[in-house]
Amino acid sequence: MATSNRSRARVALRTGVASILAAVTVAALSQTAAAADSLGSAAAAKGRYFGAAVAANHLGETAYASTLDREFNQVTPENEMKWDATESTRGSFTFSNADQIVGHALGKGMKVRGHTLVWHSQLPSWVSGLSATDLRSAMNNHITQVMEHYKGDIYAWDVVNEAFQDGGSGARRSSPFQDKLGNGFIEEAFRTARSVDPAAKLCYNDYNTDGVNAKSNAVYAMVKDFKARGVPIDCVGFQSHFNSASPVPSDYQANLQRFADLGVDVQITELDIEGSGTAQATNYGNVVKACLAVSRCTGITVWGVTDKYSWRSSGTPLLFDSNYAAKPAYSAALTALGGSGTPGGGDGSGATCSVSYTTSEAWNDGYNGKVTVTAGSSPITAWSTGVTVPAPQKVVTTWNGSPSWDSGGTVMTVKNAAYNGSLAPGASTSFGFTVQKNGNGAAPVLGACTAS
Ligand code: XIL
Repeated sequence: MATSNRSRARVALRTGVASILAAVTVAALSQTAAAADSLGSAAAAKGRYFGAAVAANHLGETAYASTLDREFNQVTPENEMKWDATESTRGSFTFSNADQIVGHALGKGMKVRGHTLVWHSQLPSWVSGLSATDLRSAMNNHITQVMEHYKGDIYAWDVVNEAFQDGGSGARRSSPFQDKLGNGFIEEAFRTARSVDPAAKLCYNDYNTDGVNAKSNAVYAMVKDFKARGVPIDCVGFQSHFNSASPVPSDYQANLQRFADLGVDVQITELDIEGSGTAQATNYGNVVKACLAVSRCTGITVWGVTDKYSWRSSGTPLLFDSNYAAKPAYSAALTALGGSGTPGGGDGSGATCSVSYTTSEAWNDGYNGKVTVTAGSSPITAWSTGVTVPAPQKVVTTWNGSPSWDSGGTVMTVKNAAYNGSLAPGASTSFGFTVQKNGNGAAPVLGACTAS
């Protein structure tokens, strides 16, 4: 209990700090142009989420974070919640990297899928060395500690991942859990999970279960049995890693539907489709349409933001290329969701920018303001943003930008100078200005940034 209170406090603190920072930044300024037409907002209009797997070590990259924040309204930590990341030594838990992702996501109002509690892979070797009795208590303790830490923060947990064998046998996969605890380990994991966080949806997640086949039949039988016996399960995740050897199955939608008909939600949890151009776009469009056609398909997660960091990077399986430019697959996914098909719903060039403000120097009756302009996921050739200084402040001079004034002389619109309008995706430039306070020390307010 004490432990759980500490965990909650940590989570609350983390979120609190994020919101204070957000409030400070927003009050002074930064607005990202138009998240109005994005994968996340288009999915939300259909009552669903559209998410991405995220790696904590890329969050500091501006183009990565701005693409994530603009397009997605759900995240799954790609590796940071796995057993080897959270409990590499028995009984000693590490949450810092996963906390970073969860803090970022909750600060932006995104849902988080927890991935994953019990899996044979990325499992520290100490676990495989345990006796059955010890393994059972280690498994239940792992589930309890990790779920307690994130209690209230997680929309759905992949409680058990990949417990079935590939191929036609329909058998369970050999793993320390299966081999020592038998089939019952799955049920036990779900029961423990429900007792820890009754508000989180509990999912079984697997791959090569996307169409009707021996493996998905075996998972289907398990879910049916769980529902019949009241074992807590709320959702089934379909990883959906596709390539030419493992294409989007023609009965994908029918398979999602038959699981939904058992009374569980279905989710596409790790979507990536190797390929390029129109063929890849068609596949993405079809996957989105299949989910939309199944009312209990609650959302789609792509397994990464950019091809650059995909676990199958050479297959370029994602929606944004290595320069964060939206691919035809992006347009197909967005169009299938009912959106315009262009990032940010802009002029079709995908040009967007965002601005943020800092006071670089201040003195008794004046200050120097600095505005950083950052291009979104497409290259831009021009930018423009508003700056309002609170009366009776007066802007004395500006540099690295070309200002014009509204009739009242309080709002200046600053366009790029001749030499700093062109920015690569994610690249930044800045302009500055000197303000006379005239007795008012308040910070200026920025308008939205627009780009072409
Ligand atoms: C992958 C990650 O993307 C890689 O970074 C890591 O090296 C291995 O795991 N099924 C899953 C995911 O459930 O957790 C896997 O993620 C991909 C296959």
